[in-house]
Amino acid sequence: MTCVRTPAELDAADPLAPHRDLFVGTESDLVYLDGNSLGRPLRVTAERLQRFVTEQWGGRLIRGWDEGWFELPTTLGDRVAEVCLGAAAGQTVVADSTTVMLYKLLRAAVGLRDDVRRTEVVLARDDFPTDRYVAASVAEECGLTLRWLEPADDPAQGVTVEQVEEALGDRTLVVLLSHVAYRSAWVADVEQITAAAHDAGALVLWDLSHSVGALPLHLDAWGVDLAVGCTYKYLDGGPGAPAFAHVAARHHERLTQPLTGWMGHADPFAMGPAYAPAPGVRRLVSGTPPVVGMLAVQDMLDLLAEVGMDAVRAKSTALTQYVVDRAAGLLPETRLASPRDPDRRGGHVTLTHPRMREVTAALWRADVLPDYRDPDGLRLGLSPLTTSFAEVEAGMQRVRAVLDHP
Ligand SMILES: Cc1ncc(COP(=O)(O)O)c(C=O)c1O
Repeated sequence: MTCVRTPAELDAADPLAPHRDLFVGTESDLVYLDGNSLGRPLRVTAERLQRFVTEQWGGRLIRGWDEGWFELPTTLGDRVAEVCLGAAAGQTVVADSTTVMLYKLLRAAVGLRDDVRRTEVVLARDDFPTDRYVAASVAEECGLTLRWLEPADDPAQGVTVEQVEEALGDRTLVVLLSHVAYRSAWVADVEQITAAAHDAGALVLWDLSHSVGALPLHLDAWGVDLAVGCTYKYLDGGPGAPAFAHVAARHHERLTQPLTGWMGHADPFAMGPAYAPAPGVRRLVSGTPPVVGMLAVQDMLDLLAEVGMDAVRAKSTALTQYVVDRAAGLLPETRLASPRDPDRRGGHVTLTHPRMREVTAALWRADVLPDYRDPDGLRLGLSPLTTSFAEVEAGMQRVRAVLDHP
């Protein structure tokens, strides 16, 4: 398939195009193709941060904790669940980093098992490093073993249901996988893999970092046990914005986690002699939550709620399809390392070529900002609400120019 419409025509026909102006920096000629690493800030967020300093922090001072900050991990968690996760309230918190939340939830999975003979964590050899590293630590700490799913020869191919089914057994404790693969953007079949894990008596822990805010999610309907994800990619929460952690309500009664701090206590200000967990998912909070880091996410959630996740996904798919089609004509020497099937492709596209490392460096010098992933992948992140077709075209033209004139 070739592109029959120009980028300008595609932008003119795009119902989400006007939202681009709501974001800081979109008026400049800089080409930003890394919103899946760090989303752009909304203009209203600049005002919110300013107001927060003068009115809430500066004006309310310590009273702010009673007036909303204390509850933010759960109120914001509920909002993430409502707008993006397809999950009922009371199952999601926002606090800590994704890495810390992964640790807590893997340890929670250990605490939830009925049978101590379940000692295997099923995970993918090419998953994001932090997931693999944390799993290795928890395995060492708790006497677990890691059962690796090996990558396919085709870099565009990710973890399949069949692959997971083969690895499952009566030793499986938990399946830990990314919904959207950070390199290829392969979309794993959350529903089928979750069902397969449950049939084998195991739990699932999904890393939603590359899907939340880009793809519609239905965690309740899919029966997901545990999930984490970050808020600084498609939720535009800013550098270091805290992660969310989700635990299905059916597990709350037996939910434990290893970092039992005072903020997850049933009565933090009793300052009692021993830890007693707060009811429900609140117990996942450990220490003082990063309130300032949670401000920007609120604005992006409002915008996503207004636009709707189906419309966001439709635009995301149109953008990635544009890259796939255009690369075939403009960059024929590159190889597509992302799925061709739009249903199996998340919000970014990776193109490989032996010179992509130096190409990326040259692009950055020219104010074209994609990402690079070893060994040879140019990763083009396309943020549905901020990326325009014209921007993508400009970026790809620049790749052509750098490949032609190193
Ligand atoms: C799949 C995945 N998990 C986790 C993380 C990051 O974890 P943290 O927020 O702790 O740095 C990333 C960051 O890019 C990621 O892509």
